[in-house]
Amino acid sequence: ESSTEVDVSALEEGQAIKAVFRKQPLFVRKLTPQEIAQANGVSLSALRDPETLAERTLEGHTNMLVTMGVCTHLGCVPLGAGEGENRGEYGGYFCPCHGSHYDTAGRIRKGPAPTNLVVPEYTFPSDTLIRIG
Ligand code: FES
Repeated sequence: ESSTEVDVSALEEGQAIKAVFRKQPLFVRKLTPQEIAQANGVSLSALRDPETLAERTLEGHTNMLVTMGVCTHLGCVPLGAGEGENRGEYGGYFCPCHGSHYDTAGRIRKGPAPTNLVVPEYTFPSDTLIRIG
């Protein structure tokens, strides 16, 4: 199966971009220190699908959140990876189809989605390049 490479050299803190991986939308977000603190400040017992930010990112790159851009409820594409888009009540992504709110680690926090945004397999061939799949 094919892999996808995303150049993140121009990605700024607080910015998220959309790419395509195996014909599905993929989100890459460079977290600000504040967004990282926000994600790490949540108690796992408060989460529907308990995972830490560290578990959802790669070691040495915990500021780079790579997820599928597919809501785990019924598959809509959440908002939040485009300029000025609604990021929802938890500052991550917001699915307008039925109102699912994801946090800065892409974890479901409110609304009908049952699980966190899926993290695909990926590596960093260099500090500014992500290879997914
Ligand atoms: Fe996203 Fe239903 S598809 S909330």
